[in-house]
This record gives sequence, structure tokens and C-alpha cells, in this order.
Amino acid sequence: MTLSKGDKLGKYTILKEWRRGGYGVIYKAIDNSLNEIVAIKTLRQDVSPQQYKKNLERLEREKDILNRMSGHPNIVKYYEYFQEEKALVMEFLDGNNLSELLEQKGRLKYRFVFDYIYQIGLALKYVHDKDLVHRDVQPKNIMIEKTKVKKRSVLIDFGIVKYQYLVTNEHPSIQNFTHHKQQDGTFNPKLDVYGLAACLYNALTNELPTDSGERVRRHRRGEKDLIPPRRHNPSISQKVNDVILKGMDLELENVPSIEKWLKLLPKPLHWRWQQLIKANQSIVNWLRNFFR
Ligand SMILES: Nc1ncnc2c1ncn2[C@@H]1O[C@H](COP(=O)(O)OP(=O)(O)O)[C@@H](O)[C@H]1O
Ligand SMILES: [Mg+2]
Repeated sequence: MTLSKGDKLGKYTILKEWRRGGYGVIYKAIDNSLNEIVAIKTLRQDVSPQQYKKNLERLEREKDILNRMSGHPNIVKYYEYFQEEKALVMEFLDGNNLSELLEQKGRLKYRFVFDYIYQIGLALKYVHDKDLVHRDVQPKNIMIEKTKVKKRSVLIDFGIVKYQYLVTNEHPSIQNFTHHKQQDGTFNPKLDVYGLAACLYNALTNELPTDSGERVRRHRRGEKDLIPPRRHNPSISQKVNDVILKGMDLELENVPSIEKWLKLLPKPLHWRWQQLIKANQSIVNWLRNFFR
């Protein structure tokens, strides 16, 4: 369904078309009962009927999954689905996706990037604990909210999520953020660790990591298959360089679980402050009382 400014959908009024993805069109709309901004995702109409059918399956899968996932602060919240109009209503995330942010600012600063990546890691842990694999972790599917204080990063686009017994052959449109094993239909949460590590590579270097098919071909020819991120950006420490490469190992067995990989990452600054305060709670309390 194509929507335009002023169109009504239940209690929502369309404000404008906001963004386009590979298969979805996202509108910014207002919930008239709560006076709150929402996002509405519908399907692109400029595709063949066969493609439309596939995309519809994807949207319906996305609404089912989001409906089950919306308890986590780093996963976009589901509101409702209009069956007839094929429109998915979600929380509106006011900001840019990680890919847009890179286009605007060039490679990003350490302290911001770790925080964004860490939050998405927590979202993925939640997804994996529910026996699901996102399978499309890439910068366009990570939203960074534009708030001034602590920036929330949010995982979106649950269209090709896979669970153990679901057979799906859908793949992301680009392979720079996907492990080559994903092409065989492998079900493994570590596929998402690869995606997130590749996002970290991309955010710290502003270079696309090599396409995973090309990596395999180079590897077979006995060539270096991936330029280490530190070669693109020498300010990346050896430790962070190695953590990224570990997450992007061609052998899935060598890729750690999301929980283990997050432990290897340097903690975002505010986390370290929180730890410090926790560890010194008695001193903090004493100071508070002293200055009261
Ligand atoms: N809830 C949302 N709030 C704000 N912007 C969003 C929201 N969901 C998606 N977007 C924007 O729209 C783009 C496309 O959405 P996405 O769900 O990824 O579509 P597709 O499945 O077609 O890739 C995203 O990259 C993002 O910029
Ligand atoms: Mg997307």
C-alpha cells in the first residue's frame, strides 16, 4: 500500500515518507490518540508480483518476531499490524542508521562506537536466548537515536530472522556483513557475531569489509583474505583489531558466542564509570553524606 501525507490508518495519520529499505518503505506518522510519533513500515510496490509475495512473507514474519521481541530496550518496539493494509506500526526512532552516520561523519570515534556496538550485542544476546538468529546485522539495520545525553542504539529489520526449524533461503542483499556459511542455510547464532564484528570493522575504518564469498575465494588461493582493520586505521589497538578478526573468522567454530565476544570488547566509558562507582559504593555514600 502506498501512503501519502495526511492519509489515515486507524488512529494514525501519515506525516511523510521517512526512508526506503530494500523491501520496505518507512513512514513517519502520528498516533492521534496519544499524540505520539510512530514509524509505519509497508512494502515497496515497485517490484514484480513474485518479489512482492516474498516481501509480504518477510513483513509478516517480521511482525510476528517483533511482537515476541519487544521487551528489550535495544530492540525496536512493536505496536500493531494492519492485516489488510500490510502495515507494521513500530516505535519511531529519531536518528540515523549507522551507515548514514558513517556517510555524514566519516569513521567514528572509539568511545561512541563501542557503546553502540555493545548495546546491539545485548539485543543479540536477547534474540539468541530465544533461539533465534537475526541474520541481517549490518549498519543499515542499526539505528542510533539522536538524543543528547546517552545515545541509544537499536536493532531493527527482523525480516529474515531464522529459528531452528524454519527453512528460509532469504539472504541479505550484500555479503560484506554475512558469514559465508549463512548461504548454506546454516542455523547458528554466531552468524550474528560475524555481522556485528563486521559493523565494528566498518564503523572504525569507514571501509567495507571484504565480501564473504570473495574472502573464501582468496583463502582458497592461499591469499590474505581480509585487510586487518588496523591497517586502515592505525589508531585501532592491536587488541581491538584481534577482537574484530576473531568475530569475523571464516571458521564458524572459532567465532565466539555473542556473550563471550562482548566480554573481549573494551567496555564503553560510562560502563567503566558505573563499575568504579559500584566498587567504591561505601566511599561514594560517605562523600554524599559529607556534602549533604
Ligand atoms: N522504527 C523506525 N524508526 C525510524 N526509522 C526507521 C525505523 N525502522 C526503519 N527505519 C529506517 O528505514 C530504513 C529501512 O528500514 P528496514 O526495516 O531496514 O527496511 P528493509 O527491510 O527494507 O531493509 C532503515 O535503515 C532506517 O533508516
Ligand atoms: Mg534493512
